[in-house]
Amino acid sequence: MDAQTCLTTTRSVRKRLDFDRPVPRELILECIEVAVQAPTGSNRQGWHFVIVTDPEKKKVIGDLYRQSWGPYASSRGPRYAEGDVRLEQMPRIVSSSQYLADRFHEVPAMVIPCIHGRVDASGVTNLEIAGLYGSILPAAWSFMLAARDRGLVTAWTTLHLKYERETAELLGIPYERITQAALITLGYHTGGEFKPAERIPLEPIVHWNSW
Ligand SMILES: Cc1cc2nc3c(=O)[nH]c(=O)nc-3n(C[C@H](O)[C@H](O)[C@H](O)COP(=O)(O)O)c2cc1C
Repeated sequence: MDAQTCLTTTRSVRKRLDFDRPVPRELILECIEVAVQAPTGSNRQGWHFVIVTDPEKKKVIGDLYRQSWGPYASSRGPRYAEGDVRLEQMPRIVSSSQYLADRFHEVPAMVIPCIHGRVDASGVTNLEIAGLYGSILPAAWSFMLAARDRGLVTAWTTLHLKYERETAELLGIPYERITQAALITLGYHTGGEFKPAERIPLEPIVHWNSW
């Protein structure tokens, strides 16, 4: 797959996730080998990847995810004007997200990218926040691209983070020193093509020399 295709067709795949087919460990390790080519602040390389395939642990995380999803799904969420592409896309995303939430415990592999440090204390500067997340999110996205290149599909999720501490306890992650940045669902897909998504136009979001 060429880079342009990989970069523009790595969608959040939920309804077409193959819940029955496990992902070989070697393939996950290959994706992590790619992921750790991403940049990190001061070359710290403070990343960790926690892979969850154990059914009992997935069940607990699935329950935590749904506890977070419930109030999120019934909250009002962002509002968009008529004609905005995001308004039109919303029902599909809600339906797909509900589907994933219902079956979250069944996803073949949950990949939790983590990073050394925490920035959720008061008084932390944006420089520190950007340094921390900037040292794990590029790797996490590279992981997703590498997975796509290998015929796998992913979805970036964050809702379990409402219960980050409980998840840390379950998985033995040292919460006080390690931040969980996301939870990437990983698996094979049930078929079909993936296409570039329609996005908002560039004109209002690109600023040359001044805002
Ligand atoms: C920071 C962030 C948090 C997200 N959290 C969730 C989540 O908890 N659950 C979920 O189903 N999707 C989640 N998503 C996926 C978005 O819904 C998805 O990226 C968006 O709808 C665009 O779809 P696409 O990725 O297929 O282009 C998240 C994405 C990002 C970047």
